[in-house]
Amino acid sequence: MGEGRSEQEILLESRRKFLGQCLAVLGATALGGALYPVVQYLRPLEADKAARKVEVDLGEIPMGTAKTILYRGLPTLVINATEGVVAISAVCTHLGCIVKWQEERKMLFCPCHAARFALDGRVLGGPAPAPLEVHPVTVAGGKVMLGA
Ligand code: FES
Repeated sequence: MGEGRSEQEILLESRRKFLGQCLAVLGATALGGALYPVVQYLRPLEADKAARKVEVDLGEIPMGTAKTILYRGLPTLVINATEGVVAISAVCTHLGCIVKWQEERKMLFCPCHAARFALDGRVLGGPAPAPLEVHPVTVAGGKVMLGA
């Protein structure tokens, strides 16, 4: 027999290489398909982490007014009150309606069942069972920062 490989052996080896490459591509695709849900599961965590730090331009909130933002995924009022800048949950502790800031009365009011809250979150009246959560803020350079 000759020293070189036969044409059939070369063809077989070429097919083996091709099949090996096909299996590698299939394996990579299967691995990607298995990892995709994991990556999708972790992605909201990154978005949530970003939402834990919110910056608001104080110029957007004239004295005595409030701006509603999303903080930690929940409506939050940033109030530019004469007492200072306050960030407070806008979700009523009674049944979850969104409270409104009333500058003229210096309090937060829930339009659903008339709960009333002080600027520090205390319940002033109505059916609310607990105070509103107040979030610490830092005010610097014309910015209000939550979660900084
Ligand atoms: S939901 Fe606010 S008082 Fe009932």
